[in-house]
Amino acid sequence: MAARIVKRRHVSSRLSCKLFILFSVFVFCVVVLVTAALFTLHSNSTKPSIRVSQAFYHGPPKIAFLFLVRRNVPLDFLWGAFFQNGDVSNFSIYVHSAPGFVLDESTSRSHFFYGRQLSNSIQVLWGESSMIQAERLLLSAALEDPANQRFVLLSDSCVPLYNFSYVYNYIMVSPRSFVDSFLDAKEGRYNPKMSPKIPREKWRKGSQWVTLVRNHAEVIVDDEVIFSVFKRYCKRRPPIDIRKGKLNLKLQKQHNCIPDEHYVQTLLALHGLEGELERRTVTYTLWNQSTTKTDNKGWHPITFSYANAGPRKIKEIKDISHVYYETEYRTEWCHSNSTSVPCFLFARKFSRGAAMRLLSDEVIGHIELSALLGNDL
Ligand SMILES: *[C@@H]1O[C@H](CO)[C@@H](O)[C@H](O)[C@H]1NC(C)=O
Ligand SMILES: *[C@@H]1O[C@H](CO)[C@@H](O)[C@H](O)[C@H]1NC(C)=O
Ligand SMILES: *[C@@H]1O[C@H](CO)[C@@H](O)[C@H](O)[C@H]1NC(C)=O
Ligand SMILES: *[C@@H]1O[C@H](CO)[C@@H](O)[C@H](O)[C@H]1NC(C)=O
Repeated sequence: MAARIVKRRHVSSRLSCKLFILFSVFVFCVVVLVTAALFTLHSNSTKPSIRVSQAFYHGPPKIAFLFLVRRNVPLDFLWGAFFQNGDVSNFSIYVHSAPGFVLDESTSRSHFFYGRQLSNSIQVLWGESSMIQAERLLLSAALEDPANQRFVLLSDSCVPLYNFSYVYNYIMVSPRSFVDSFLDAKEGRYNPKMSPKIPREKWRKGSQWVTLVRNHAEVIVDDEVIFSVFKRYCKRRPPIDIRKGKLNLKLQKQHNCIPDEHYVQTLLALHGLEGELERRTVTYTLWNQSTTKTDNKGWHPITFSYANAGPRKIKEIKDISHVYYETEYRTEWCHSNSTSVPCFLFARKFSRGAAMRLLSDEVIGHIELSALLGNDL
């Protein structure tokens, strides 16, 4: 009995010795892994991001085209032609539409869009934080495919101004995101209650139509803190409603904030990532500057029609080589990977007629029109 106990003790001490060694090895591994992870994180924040994400992915990188639409993709016939001239292994498509809306033969003129709607889409109110939540859902879905290395956000009235391969090369050679971002000096959209999570000096404004590299897309999807500050304090001021009586006085004093014109640029500024940006958008908008007292909207985008989307106008847009930012006295010369390029790859807002004109003028390359015949345009 005693011997057995001794033996058992002996066995158990041998076991604990083995366990100790195993444990030590385990601890050593954990330390090595944590150090490596910290090192990677550290170098992530200082080096251009893409190399790191691409190191894990071997294969042709894709551009994810992310469409934020109300129901169908109205200019799908033009995009279909654009993708037709592309390379299926070089792009992917995601559409955020109304919940339950399905893209198929009956709702889309281009097979590229069939079934590309998100299954978890939400009801979007234009100018509200649901808009940035929809952007985050699109990015999140697209991040699931490691082949997606660039992320282009597009509206339902956006058109391409070049053929696929031109767009692909322009975006892919750039190690930076394209994010319109500038100081928002005069307008009262910043709410001091956002501080300290968003200090005033990090508050930015810019077009919501951004093109992102993978790790900037990750920053946006991983963010919960700044998004919740936006949800709480960045709200559109409702129009005056007589039925609300005196409440209007209070409502009109509210900060009038449009989340999608601030969120991405402010978030990336807070993360110290502005050095990894081309601080401009690749999506052209023509602004109508005539302000009337009655519509209190200020500037608003002009919609292109068949008549004013002719070759002269399109060439004018394509010839733009720099953008001037008044609030910063900054002239942004347009570059992609340090090479001078035209500023704009896409444009909005295009009516169906204007998009038809681009198609027939072969702005996006030669199209086999027979492929489009029989469709109800
Ligand atoms: C695409 O467009 C670019 C610039 O307009 C042009 O140089 C190139 O030849 C076009 N490529 C194809 C495949 O049409
Ligand atoms: C597709 O991607 C490959 C690899 O990046 C590239 O060489 C090729 O030119 C791309 N094709 C088009 C049509 O852009
Ligand atoms: C970017 O430009 C540098 C310097 O001209 C060049 O070496 C590099 O290959 C370019 N990157 C890409 C992805 O084309
Ligand atoms: C610009 O806006 C004014 C006032 O809203 C409008 O009357 C005019 O038609 C607009 N111009 C264009 C080109 O859309």
